[in-house]
Amino acid sequence: MIQIIPTQPIDGQKPGTSGLRKKTRVFMQPGYLENFVQSIWNGLGGVAGKTLVLGGDGRFFNTEAAQTILRMAAASGAARVIVGRDGLLSTPAASHLIRSRGADGGIILSASHNPGGADGDFGVKYNTANGGPAPESVTSAIHDATTRIAEYHTLDAPALDLSQPGQTRLHQTEVEIVDPVADYADLMAELFDFDAIRALLASGFRLRFDAMHAITGPYAQEILEARLGAAPGSVVNATPLPDFGGGHPDPNPVWASDLVAAMMAPDAPDFGAASDGDGDRNMIMGRGIYVTPSDSLAVIAANAHLVPGYAGGLTGVARSMPTSAALDRVAAARGITCYATPTGWKFFGNLLDAGQATLCGEESAGTGSDHIREKDGLWAVLIWLNILAARTQSVAEVMTAHWQDFGRNYYSRHDYEEVDAEAAAALIEELRARLDKLAGEKLGTLIVREAEDFSYRDPVDGSVTARQGVQIRFDGGARLVLRLSGTGTAGATLRVYLEQAVDGPDGLDTEPQAALAEVIAAAEALCGIRARLGRTAPDVVT
Ligand code: G1P
Ligand code: ZN
Repeated sequence: MIQIIPTQPIDGQKPGTSGLRKKTRVFMQPGYLENFVQSIWNGLGGVAGKTLVLGGDGRFFNTEAAQTILRMAAASGAARVIVGRDGLLSTPAASHLIRSRGADGGIILSASHNPGGADGDFGVKYNTANGGPAPESVTSAIHDATTRIAEYHTLDAPALDLSQPGQTRLHQTEVEIVDPVADYADLMAELFDFDAIRALLASGFRLRFDAMHAITGPYAQEILEARLGAAPGSVVNATPLPDFGGGHPDPNPVWASDLVAAMMAPDAPDFGAASDGDGDRNMIMGRGIYVTPSDSLAVIAANAHLVPGYAGGLTGVARSMPTSAALDRVAAARGITCYATPTGWKFFGNLLDAGQATLCGEESAGTGSDHIREKDGLWAVLIWLNILAARTQSVAEVMTAHWQDFGRNYYSRHDYEEVDAEAAAALIEELRARLDKLAGEKLGTLIVREAEDFSYRDPVDGSVTARQGVQIRFDGGARLVLRLSGTGTAGATLRVYLEQAVDGPDGLDTEPQAALAEVIAAAEALCGIRARLGRTAPDVVT
């Protein structure tokens, strides 16, 4: 029985870098989720007759939200909803399912790497038919709809049993419950040389994959242990928990410190990796070495031809603007174009759809390719394993050789989290106002060569996205980027991205924070970040 419930607009339902993210309790308020979901339908011009994919990362409220969305899709006449068993799908698996099943779009329930639980974060993201995050034109139509909503449509129906794969029906809508892992695992087997990886793992090569109590546990167990033969127990923290075990499921040296400790120990495995809450991020380590995401992207680009799925070469590559230029070095050497886009995976979609880029990545632990339209944590792990198998080298050997061949871009990001939103906004605004006059100025020991507020013109559809971060280049190859996070749920987060390029052959083996000391000092000289934000040091250094 369809119910039409009167409602009114709720402030702040504006999708950010990656969908709408709020505190879980905000999403749990009566009508909050319903208003946003109805606004998605309204922003899309309705979902009658459409096929949607639905799944989430299993965080607290995932199950209830999935049931609500099923009822609302049925009430609005969706033809079919393909939902992961128990309402679960990793973000990459959802992207693949949308594409492989020719769905019109999908809803992913996740706040990615943000903590979960009743006091954590929740999120809802709409992906379009290409499997990628909705572009700005769609998210702004959805936001617009949130400001005009007057009613939402739902069903008076009990919760569906989503615990077994199979077909069922809700009102007029077909609901298909699928195994969340199988199709994704098959796709990985198509892209990579599973025989070579299996042989590597059989040769005594040890790996440790930390699923951080999040969605990739079952995926990694099936692919790494069951299909590729990694020793049982190679996947740790493999059981997804609604609050991620109270942790912060973000695969970086700060939040995955257990993995770092294991990989820095004398008896460390040969390879270590982790993924985030919804399975789209990755961290790569070797025995005694952490690989920055920017370097990982460059190494993958330089070695992709060794991997079956990419043996035909790369049409082009893309990185987000703050990501280091290590990728640019590889692209220049290989004679392919390297695009720099604003932060956020949605900006890669057009390049991938148009065949202008094969690989893309972000400094924030996101790496992926044209196999789907999201970043993909396990894909990054598998391409690394395939490269290591093909090169018969350790991670450390691969990195040393890479820097010798291409030069090195020292890189780090300093985050000031949950700072006063007005103070952070004022800092960026004042900086913007000074950009025209910065060239030639000396900041600490560095001289500014050029300064801009990054603006991107999409080469495929010509759309322009402005004000995407302050970028300052210095004489001598250093670069500084400052921008405000678009994914936080409390206060503001200032991200300070630091880079120093070294061509080699000398100076390739410095401790990164030391190599970046002059850029770090220049950032302070530029705008006195710590004093203005009332902090003595960044909260997170990656
Ligand atoms: C952050 C990352 C960005 C990534 C996004 C979603 O966004 O910086 O690269 O695409 O999460 O995972 P931000 O909080 O910086 O807006
Ligand atoms: Zn994520």
